[in-house]
Order: sequence, then structure tokens, then C-alpha cells
Amino acid sequence: KNKFTVSSFLQAKANKEKITMLTAYDYSMAKIVNDAGIDSILVGDSLGMVVQGYESTLEVTMDDMVYHCRAVARGAENALIVGDMPFLSYHISVEEAVRNAGRLIQEGKAHAVKLEGGVDQVDTVTAIVKAQIPVMGHIGLTPQSVNLFGGFKVQGKDTAQAQKVIDDALALEAAGVFAIVLEGIPEKLATLITQKISVPTIGIGAGRYCDGQVLVIHDLLGMYSGQSPKFSKRYAALNETIKDSVTTYITEVKSVKFPEEKHTFSIDDVVIAALKQ
Ligand code: KIV
Ligand code: NA
Repeated sequence: KNKFTVSSFLQAKANKEKITMLTAYDYSMAKIVNDAGIDSILVGDSLGMVVQGYESTLEVTMDDMVYHCRAVARGAENALIVGDMPFLSYHISVEEAVRNAGRLIQEGKAHAVKLEGGVDQVDTVTAIVKAQIPVMGHIGLTPQSVNLFGGFKVQGKDTAQAQKVIDDALALEAAGVFAIVLEGIPEKLATLITQKISVPTIGIGAGRYCDGQVLVIHDLLGMYSGQSPKFSKRYAALNETIKDSVTTYITEVKSVKFPEEKHTFSIDDVVIAALKQ
């Protein structure tokens, strides 16, 4: 598989080929996901919930994101790596936003950054793109807005809200993003936006007709002990597999079934005999 680039995103939309994207937060998972042939890996600030155990993404820092991006970058040879900009890393000023986006590229080795918001973030997106950093937009149910929304609630169900999501998409397209994540919006609204804009839409809880799809890897593998959203799909139940494996390990260590002789290193009897004198 060739390297997936920002141009590949646009090419895929033109060719009506679905773009596949998954989150990963460390080297080992990134390598598996990359080698399976994923187009793009998102180092999402969802790591605040599935890796760090917080109740929202609001606790994640720039240093956290840089650390996880670097680890993923070592494992992902072909996938386009998108580093998520955490809460407050792009809200204070445009200058801070550009510097922080630059850190995800320079220190984190990501190829692109993602940030939440539409019309309100046009100046920021424009400045980051001007710094030659590709930006992925993210609108609809934006998790960093959880306190403003009063929970993780589907967005765009009434006319005013739906119009806002459309305005956000058009503003981001004009500001130069290479793709837009549509999260937690009605399928028909996502379809309308996908038809309206020239850059690919990547859906999560946005129905069947976006140009691509993204999921949180822990949801897909069934290894998140919290509540997974309605729109995610479990392709495995790794939490149970992991728990069973650990239980067996504990039992085998306690009962001296593991380690076995084949797991041991040998030494010449002469050496041992000398040591015993
Ligand atoms: O942080 C994340 O994983 C995300 C995706 C859910 C789009 O932003
Ligand atoms: Na995110």
C-alpha cells in the first residue's frame, strides 16, 4: 500500500472511494492498524477518556498529544497521521494555535492536525494552513463543547442547528481544510453537507453517506469499560479476551504452571557446581 496523503483524501472523494480512519494512541496499535491497511490514523484527544480515564476530553494537554503522536508515528508507515488539537491549545490566540499545531508536526511527527469548530475557527484554520500545516475540521457534536451542549448530544436536529452545521462546513471548506469530521448529526444532514462541499466528509455518528468513516479503536475492539456511543460498532470483545488471559496467567503463576522449562535459560552444570563450593 502506498502512503496515504492529503491529496489521497481529495482523490478518494473524486473516485467515490470510502476513506477509512481509526484512532490509535501508541506504537503497537498504530502498527497493527497501519499494516491492516487503514488510510489514516487519528491520534484523537479521545485518549483522555480511553487511555487516561477522564470523563471528557477536556483534561488532555499539548504535551500528552505530542507524546502519543510520536509513538504512533513510529508505528505507522503508510497511514496519514492526524494529531488532534486539545482543548485550549487553539482558543487563546491564533499565534498560540499555529505554534501548537506546529508542535504536533515538528515534535509529534503528525502529517496534519484536527481542531473542533467551524465559523468561529476560520481565522485560526487559515493561519495554520498558511503555516503549511494541513487542517482537518470537526463539526457537529464536538466533544470539547460538552459543557456548552449540556452533554454529548446529537447536533443539527432543528433548522437553526442544522443551518449552523452547514455554515460551519462551508466556512471550513473556504478556509482551506482538506477534510471535515462530521460527528453526531442526522444522516440526511451529513448527506447534504457531503454533496455540498468539495472536500471529503469523515463521519462518526453521521450515517452511511459520508466520504469516509472514523471510529475510536477501543470502541471497535470492545476494550473500553465506559459507555460506548450508539453509533460505534464492536467488532471484537477484547476486554473479555484480555480479562480471561490475565485470569489464566494469575492461575498459572500461582500453581507454578508458568513459566515452563521451555521458557528458561540454561547454564552449564560445571558453573553451578563451582558456585556452590
Ligand atoms: O478524539 C477523537 O477520537 C475524535 C474522533 C472521534 C473524531 O475526535
Ligand atoms: Na477529538
